Amino acid sequence: MIYKFDVVSSTMEVAHRLAEVVDEEVVVWAKKQVAGAGRRGRKWWSPEGGLWFSIIMKDKQKVEYNKIAGLLAAFAVEEVLKKIVEDIWVKWPNDVIAMDRKIAGVLVDVSYLGCAPQYVVVGIGVNVNNTFNGTALEDVAISLKELTGRDYNLDSFLTQILDEISSQYQKFFADPKHIRKAFANKSKMVNRSVEVLMDKVVKKGLCIGIDDYGALIIKSNDELIKVEDVGNVERVIVS
Ligand code: BTN
Repeated sequence: MIYKFDVVSSTMEVAHRLAEVVDEEVVVWAKKQVAGAGRRGRKWWSPEGGLWFSIIMKDKQKVEYNKIAGLLAAFAVEEVLKKIVEDIWVKWPNDVIAMDRKIAGVLVDVSYLGCAPQYVVVGIGVNVNNTFNGTALEDVAISLKELTGRDYNLDSFLTQILDEISSQYQKFFADPKHIRKAFANKSKMVNRSVEVLMDKVVKKGLCIGIDDYGALIIKSNDELIKVEDVGNVERVIVS
């Protein structure tokens, strides 16, 4: 079921309210958000023209594997966008990058009852027909329209991305190593130097890949470090 709105505060907020009363997988889609949310409390600029939606996931397995929800969603977006854009890749933890700028981002909220995860809301923002030219974000963000000079049908993108997310989950549940293989194919980070800025800590080294739960593995002074706490990642620099 897809609920479509013209304007909302944030599809995340609407999804959390709806999650109290729906049992199936539901999508909340808005043409515009006035309080779009990014990771770590950042704002996500969401004018008309972009694709802004959140998926409420209540399936037991998806809830159990909530740690990989963001990466699978980013893989799905990359898979759909690469049909149009050649130079596109997934930057851990869950950004999609084109021409060194962010074309899509994913925000994952897990709702807990005590220690038990109850449901997951996966929010996806894709810069499609919106433009950044002349805005404060023009050096860091880019849209499909800016890359190709064309406008795109948002309904079609939504359907393709939702289908691709289902397919990513099917592949992961059939073979948990899917996530590692997909990361190796879809990310430009493996075998490159990475710097992960966390709360007051910087983790630096050579990126080896990710583990089956989506944690980043870095080799530093012959020691393997796992970066698991995705929620605390402020910035990732790949060089
Ligand atoms: C990030 O990269 O910081 C994550 C951005 C996620 C943005 C999407 S747009 C749809 C959904 N609603 C929101 O308010 N945020 C997510």
